[in-house]
Amino acid sequence: AAPVRVGILGLGTVGCGTVNVLLRNAQEITRRAGRRIEIVQASARDIGKKRACPTSGIALVPDAESVVRNPDIDVIVELIGGLDPARALVLEAIGQGKHVVTANKALIALHGNEIFRAAQERGVMVAFEAAVAGGIPIIKAIREGLTANRIEWLAGIINGTSNFILSEMREKGADFADVLREAQRLGYAEADPTFDVEGVDAAHKLTILAAIAFGIPLKFRDAYVEGISRVTRLDVSYAEELGYRLKLLGIARRTESGVELRVHPTLIPRRRLIANVEGAMNAVLVKGDAVGPTLFYGAGAGSEPTASAVVADLVDVVRTLTTDPTNRVPHLAFQPDALEDLSI
Ligand code: HSE
Repeated sequence: AAPVRVGILGLGTVGCGTVNVLLRNAQEITRRAGRRIEIVQASARDIGKKRACPTSGIALVPDAESVVRNPDIDVIVELIGGLDPARALVLEAIGQGKHVVTANKALIALHGNEIFRAAQERGVMVAFEAAVAGGIPIIKAIREGLTANRIEWLAGIINGTSNFILSEMREKGADFADVLREAQRLGYAEADPTFDVEGVDAAHKLTILAAIAFGIPLKFRDAYVEGISRVTRLDVSYAEELGYRLKLLGIARRTESGVELRVHPTLIPRRRLIANVEGAMNAVLVKGDAVGPTLFYGAGAGSEPTASAVVADLVDVVRTLTTDPTNRVPHLAFQPDALEDLSI
């Protein structure tokens, strides 16, 4: 079959991670998707810049709009972030009949209702696994693996930057501002890091998780949001003395009057698994009525962990393009000749 042609908007940390993962694991990914995934064009503000990925074979252009309008492209990967111009570009891509993969949590949390309506009308997919908890496949886990359950509540460490800051303050007695700078240097923080430290980024992700877990519309504005900017080293060490660990949690739960969404620093008994999630890692607890509590752990930010989720969404899109049911839900993602790889 002909390759699926992809255009990327924004060839930064995650965009380059996506290029690298697709190149390195091309054989496996093609086998699993059923078709080759080819990045044909990408937009970048500065097309002459030196990048952490090879760009030969990718037409680099400064103008994202032209990628969205390129008739040779089947799928758009939006990695610009922020609301403007990402919202207009995504809606335009949908209007052009293209599928969209995005890592943009702010966009989905604030404009997802509008975007999904447009996608439904046009009959295209909008996939956003990378928007929540980086590389952890938490959207797929809730939507697919836990689909039999009535979800009672979920709670998670879903901002890597805040968790990194709290961990460094505790372990090294480091200063808040210094650690924040380090998180920015490592590429964990948002372009505007107040979104990280004031709980806004976590609230975007919580809004998305709750919509999926409880089948409710995205309602970011109803969330209670408090970040870690006022947490001091003393708070962190007192918590420790009392047998707790201080974590920024996003919590969503059913109440009698509807679903409650809140993000705030929380004291967690130290013996709990989730209390021991350190650095920029993320973890999400989901309590289903049938399965009981489940815990998902992994990298919440960074180039290749986020790319892992972007590529998984690309494979999902490609699978839905096929009419062969055994490829839509592959029985096993191997082919008989792959057995030769097994040398026991
Ligand atoms: N700034 C985000 C974080 C990046 O620190 O978790 C991943 O969404």
